[in-house]
Amino acid sequence: MAPRFDDLSSSYHDLLRDPIRDRFGGGDSAFFHLRKSTLIRDYFRAAGVDTRRLAYLDVGCGKGELLECLRPHFARVAGCDVSAEMMQGIRGVETRVQKDPVSIPYSEDRFDFITAVCVYHHIAPSLRLALSREIARVLRPGGVFAIVEHNPFNPVTRLIVRRTPIDSDAILLKPSEVGRLMAGCGLFAPPPKYFLYFPRRLFRLTGNIESLLSVVPLGGQYVVFATKRPGLRE
Ligand SMILES: C[S@@+](CC[C@H](N)C(=O)[O-])C[C@H]1O[C@@H](n2cnc3c(N)ncnc32)[C@H](O)[C@@H]1O
Repeated sequence: MAPRFDDLSSSYHDLLRDPIRDRFGGGDSAFFHLRKSTLIRDYFRAAGVDTRRLAYLDVGCGKGELLECLRPHFARVAGCDVSAEMMQGIRGVETRVQKDPVSIPYSEDRFDFITAVCVYHHIAPSLRLALSREIARVLRPGGVFAIVEHNPFNPVTRLIVRRTPIDSDAILLKPSEVGRLMAGCGLFAPPPKYFLYFPRRLFRLTGNIESLLSVVPLGGQYVVFATKRPGLRE
């Protein structure tokens, strides 16, 4: 059976549209990808890690927008996805199709940093741990795996997910589930950081208020950065 996103690919951006989401993001998806890339760069900066030495893989990379934002900041970037159609417009970045939803088409210990952004809520709960173990397999010791997910504690997020056709199969994950998945594949996961409190037009004016709010479980999305010991500094 063809992956579900093969059929959604040609109208993907239209199917994501929602009046609240559009107003929050300032009309398109660029703000959401940029916000995630800033969050990731801030994480490594705070850890004292120079990302220009690191190899980065985005699992479930879709149209490759986050890869595009982060490409200048990493030594090597790559993407994989179960849907070849979603990735077919990506240029200048290595991509591989996952023939199987729970296997990653790379050898072990290949990447220093791996993301899965808004992917897990499309995966059946029974398959989530198997995929996480595969991701941990291709992550180098000391590497970081980040899961970004919609925040099920935020009622506006839940409303948008409920009425967005792309998300008709979505089963949202609480941060506690993400923590259990990370622990289940031997990764060390600190508490989640919540973000997307302020819309694009206010975000720049609010300075670092969003990072102060990151412990409050009300942002539109959250991220869990987990490490495969030893830590990147060791
Ligand atoms: C909502 S899109 C998100 C795309 C991208 N990460 C982003 O944030 O723009 C979800 C993506 O996850 C992919 N996907 C679904 N199940 C997957 C799996 N088991 N492994 C890898 N990718 C998967 C879909 O094909 C789709 O491209």
